[in-house]
Amino acid sequence: MDILSALKERRSVNFFDPDRNIPDELLQELISVSNLAPSSFNLQPWKVVVVQKAADKKRLRQCAMDQPKVEEAPVVLVMVADPVCAEENLENMLDSWAQLGYIKPEMKDTYKGITKNLYGSPDSIQRAYFAIKNTALFAMSLMVAAKGLGLETHPMDGFDEDCIKKEFRIPKDKIVPMIICIGYIKPGIKLLPRAFRRNIQDFVKLGSW
Ligand SMILES: Cc1cc2nc3c(=O)[nH]c(=O)nc-3n(C[C@H](O)[C@H](O)[C@H](O)COP(=O)(O)O)c2cc1C
Repeated sequence: MDILSALKERRSVNFFDPDRNIPDELLQELISVSNLAPSSFNLQPWKVVVVQKAADKKRLRQCAMDQPKVEEAPVVLVMVADPVCAEENLENMLDSWAQLGYIKPEMKDTYKGITKNLYGSPDSIQRAYFAIKNTALFAMSLMVAAKGLGLETHPMDGFDEDCIKKEFRIPKDKIVPMIICIGYIKPGIKLLPRAFRRNIQDFVKLGSW
């Protein structure tokens, strides 16, 4: 499937086939391709908790307003935005840039200073924005890639974040912007037509606000 078709045909699917699992290799391919998403300074501040076992999905459903799709989808990914990935990944990222010729090795310290100024201290609101916006790009890439791989998805933020963190042992300093159900549509289900989208004139402002 080409990228434009994937974007046009992606839908949030409410009814998953609970009897059709996603092969491990396909799930790995999906996550690997999505990992090519762009990120601020290439710092990739996302992590993912893969929820697959029936008992785990039941617990996740309880944190997610009892939405049945959480239990019916074969896999639910908990997207985790990790503010400290800036520190965690910076050295590897700069080494890679230096090795590949993007920067001179002696510039590494300058770049460390730039990222600190741009993205704030690990517990700042600036850093939370950094982590969430990049994780959202990863999540969107994943939903489009899933479509290309023949899978359906459903992003969700109707959940109690503290409950998910507690149940899945996600540290307090992380942020869960969304969870994504993945799987195959339940046989016999026909989706309603795609709902309202604004005309682009309603939100595009030419030149300035
Ligand atoms: C961040 C985010 C959170 C969402 N949370 C929920 C949710 O908790 N439950 C739900 O049924 N749909 C949820 N949705 C799905 C939206 O309702 C859906 O994307 C929207 O109605 C447009 O439909 P479409 O995705 O089929 O184009 C969410 C979507 C996004 C992007």
